[in-house]
Amino acid sequence: MTLEVRDLVIDIDGARVVDGVSFDVPEGARVGLIGESGSGKSMTALAILGLLPDGAEVGGSIRWQGRELIGLPERELAALRGDEIGIVFQEPRTALNPIRTVGRQIAEAFRIHEGLGRREALARAVAEADRVRLPDPAQIVRRYPHQLSGGQRQRVAIAAALACRPRLLIADEPTTALDVTIQADILELLHGLVTGDGMSLVFITHDLAVLSQIATDAVVLDAGRVVEQGPLSTLLTAPRSPVTQGLLRDATATVWRPGGGA
Ligand SMILES: Nc1ncnc2c1ncn2[C@@H]1O[C@H](COP(=O)(O)OP(=O)(O)O)[C@@H](O)[C@H]1O
Ligand SMILES: [Mg+2]
Repeated sequence: MTLEVRDLVIDIDGARVVDGVSFDVPEGARVGLIGESGSGKSMTALAILGLLPDGAEVGGSIRWQGRELIGLPERELAALRGDEIGIVFQEPRTALNPIRTVGRQIAEAFRIHEGLGRREALARAVAEADRVRLPDPAQIVRRYPHQLSGGQRQRVAIAAALACRPRLLIADEPTTALDVTIQADILELLHGLVTGDGMSLVFITHDLAVLSQIATDAVVLDAGRVVEQGPLSTLLTAPRSPVTQGLLRDATATVWRPGGGA
């Protein structure tokens, strides 16, 4: 078992935004957190990463490789982030730093977590840019984020998140801000990288069609509570909760159904 979330409760300014959420992410599982906007998906992810906003109070338990993350000192959480647990956010909240080259932003993980010098880290960044299939990696690392397309910027963010080969990737709506055709490319890239490394994945989306392309399991959230969870195939073919049924109706594209073709 890699990640165990138990009875997670999050209050922000006295309002309960996550209310007793429990789920597991076993080694190599790709778990979707799905629900409407405001259902508590991002807050759950931020709690795992120790990045909740000021004023948030958190209860329950989040165990990573058996170690309790809630209450862990910031220094130890910072050491986990980017090293054992990678993060990709939706653009533009990802906020790649606009005044740093993309190469430096990919290289940063090597400098922080592996203590590499600037030149060596940059050389490694070129290899990582190639791994996420950015065109002309040796040149593109010298560019600034605004010189790249949205899809390329998300590839940079993925390269930075995976540079240190984390065992868990948390991706919060990583394709939501992108054009539909680019979304499919990014999903395929993520799927290949995650399965290729046997990484575990927590993938956040409001779109069941997107989730059906990448996840093995899903946790359906509504107003901060889990309303249904299980293998994705079961949720797609026999959704029990009206919330899941609604998500299935609202899915942007044809949902992949096991055994049912596309
Ligand atoms: N910084 C914040 N301060 C206060 N409330 C917040 C903050 N961020 C989010 N919330 C509230 O927390 C709830 C859950 O938000 P969030 O986890 O971001 O939802 P989701 O990612 O599912 O769209 C929402 O009701 C939202 O209004
Ligand atoms: Mg969110």
